Amino acid sequence: MRAMHASRFALGLGELFKCLGRLGLAGLALGIVGAGSATAAGPAPEVCANCHEAAVAYYKGSIHGQKGNLRGPANAGECSTCHGDATEHVKAGGGKGVGGIKNPGGKSASMAADDKNAICLGCHAGGSKRTHWEGSTHQTRGNACTTCHTMHTQDKVLTKLTQPEVCFNCHKQQRIEVNRAFRHPILEGKVACSDCHNPHGSIGRALMKRDSVVDTCYQCHAEKRGPFVHVHEPVNEDCSICHNPHGTVADSLLKTRPPFLCHQCHTPHGGTIATLRGQPGVTTGALTGKHSINLTQARGCLNCHTQIHGGNNPSLTHPTPQFMLR
Ligand code: HEC
Ligand code: HEC
Ligand code: HEC
Ligand code: HEC
Ligand code: HEC
Ligand code: HEC
Ligand code: HEC
Ligand code: HEC
Ligand code: HEC
Ligand code: HEC
Repeated sequence: MRAMHASRFALGLGELFKCLGRLGLAGLALGIVGAGSATAAGPAPEVCANCHEAAVAYYKGSIHGQKGNLRGPANAGECSTCHGDATEHVKAGGGKGVGGIKNPGGKSASMAADDKNAICLGCHAGGSKRTHWEGSTHQTRGNACTTCHTMHTQDKVLTKLTQPEVCFNCHKQQRIEVNRAFRHPILEGKVACSDCHNPHGSIGRALMKRDSVVDTCYQCHAEKRGPFVHVHEPVNEDCSICHNPHGTVADSLLKTRPPFLCHQCHTPHGGTIATLRGQPGVTTGALTGKHSINLTQARGCLNCHTQIHGGNNPSLTHPTPQFMLR
């Protein structure tokens, strides 16, 4: 009884769609279906399978094709949810663009990016992850959801190991960086681009997954958050002042090796400073003048300033607890 009622409703809608199509309002009709507000319009997947066996098979196995996925396309018009009513397409025996068939694929030029996206956003606008899609870098550069996502083949961006391939299509510089000697284990699939970036948009700069760079890094490097008694200002501000998280030629993902890194902001001090304070490994004779420290100590500044991300020396008697020496 219930099923019959539903199918009669579907027929009615199909009729309505044809009517709208004739009036040149097919786009509007698609919008209604995309919003997931109605049931099937157009031939069932079994009809399409005659000519599109692989596309139908993958769809049926995917989350979109499952009836159990109540808010999914399988309960909102099947193929027509994304491709429009394919009645004319089937009648004409198929073909690219034939019968007004729509293709929201990333590589297809038959629809504008925003029209492609409207189909997906009809169901995916909600949820915290895509709140900032509108106005985001990828949206304003004319990318479609389907620039990254595929519906009828394995969706590479959803798997950490294969995700970078998709991004590298456009981000050649990051491909180079990620292949450098010191890098996050991105190519191994242990860290993904999307661990740090939200490609759907964010309020942080550079599409940061969290509100800021530091908060994004704290997800995995919590110990760098502190709180520290003696804070090193740039560390609290933005890790990428010193690190390039994609990859570098310098140890520890540093953009530049110390002492040069440090010299960008600090004037080198002479070796006598350390001597006066009784630092280990420093002999008065060998170290005088500005350059001696850097030349004689391989890691330069870090040999003494070991707590570069912030120090917790509580000493009241130590003369210089604030200098991140230990
Ligand atoms: C009689 C065979 C046949 C049937 C049935 C058929 N198609 Fe097609 N369809 C084709 C052919 C041929 C193409 C062109 C393929 C190509 O050029 O790569 C095509 C292309 C498409 C495209 C790509 C359009 C484009 O412009 O890029 C979509 C989407 C599509 N069909 C959807 C469907 C859907 C949905 C159904 C079922 C409701 C369906 N087709 C039924 C033969 C058919
Ligand atoms: C959730 C949206 C969505 C649904 C539902 C959907 N498709 Fe697609 N379809 C796409 C997108 C996006 C593409 C572009 C290629 C891709 O992403 O894999 C596409 C491409 C196609 C193509 C062209 C294949 C190619 O290589 O470009 C065919 C044929 C097709 N779909 C048939 C179907 C059929 C038949 C159904 C129903 C069984 C269906 N689609 C359901 C989104 C959808
Ligand atoms: C009729 C509603 C509807 C439409 C239209 C739709 N989706 Fe979905 N999609 C869903 C639902 C429901 C899920 C299941 C997960 C969820 O609840 O968010 C889902 C899941 C997904 C997933 C996760 C897949 C996985 O294996 O985990 C991706 C990616 C996705 N959709 C992308 C898209 C894209 C891209 C489009 C447009 C081409 C689109 N969807 C169109 C309803 C829809
Ligand atoms: C620049 C590439 C890119 C674009 C463009 C893109 N996505 Fe994604 N999407 C991803 C990546 C990477 C993931 C997996 C990481 C994650 O979950 O954030 C993902 C995950 C998803 C998921 C599954 C996880 C979830 O959030 O529920 C859905 C659904 C989704 N995207 C929908 C969309 C829609 C809708 C659009 C267009 C408005 C879109 N995506 C545009 C890259 C992209
Ligand atoms: C089809 C091309 C394309 C793909 C694929 C793509 N992007 Fe982009 N992305 C762009 C464009 C265009 C920009 C704008 C800046 C530019 O020209 O480099 C951009 C910018 C960015 C930015 C900087 C944003 C900002 O506001 O500073 C990040 C981060 C980014 N993309 C990450 C990703 C990730 C992660 C992926 C894979 C999940 C990805 N992109 C896939 C085209 C793409
Ligand atoms: C560990 C965190 C992290 C990972 C993983 C990561 N990024 Fe980034 N990415 C950042 C940070 C932080 C910035 C901002 C850096 C800056 O401005 O110096 C950034 C900037 C970018 C930019 C903008 C660059 C510019 O010059 O504006 C692009 C594009 C980008 N990342 C793409 C990617 C891609 C593609 C991947 C995966 C292969 C990836 N990122 C992985 C943290 C990360
Ligand atoms: C998803 C988790 C994750 C996030 C987010 C993350 N990292 Fe990492 N980071 C790792 C892993 C895993 C390693 C490799 C550790 C290893 O090899 O032992 C690593 C290594 C590093 C190293 C090099 C350590 C060494 O011993 O050479 C630095 C520096 C670093 N991360 C900085 C950052 C910065 C800066 C950010 C934010 C832009 C960030 N990380 C975000 C997981 C993460
Ligand atoms: C002022 C420059 C600077 C800033 C800013 C900075 N770091 Fe570092 N970081 C370094 C230096 C220098 C090293 C190498 C330390 C060593 O070799 O003893 C390092 C090493 C690391 C390491 C690997 C060794 C370790 O101590 O675990 C991680 C992880 C790391 N930094 C994460 C971060 C995170 C996360 C941020 C932001 C919250 C950040 N860094 C900000 C300079 C900086
Ligand atoms: C982006 C600029 C920048 C870089 C790069 C940088 N620092 Fe700093 N550092 C600061 C600022 C700002 C302070 C806060 C104290 C001040 O105002 O002089 C500071 C404080 C310090 C202090 C404590 C001195 C004091 O007066 O409290 C030491 C020690 C120090 N930095 C060492 C280093 C070392 C070693 C490196 C290289 C690994 C380094 N810094 C890299 C900006 C930087
Ligand atoms: C041999 C140990 C040692 C080395 C190597 C060393 N420092 Fe220091 N540094 C000290 C000591 C000890 C102090 C505290 C001086 C004081 O009490 O006035 C200090 C103080 C500082 C200060 C705060 C006072 C000032 O002069 O502004 C900065 C900034 C600083 N060092 C940066 C650096 C940088 C950058 C390097 C590498 C080029 C470096 N240090 C190498 C031991 C060292």
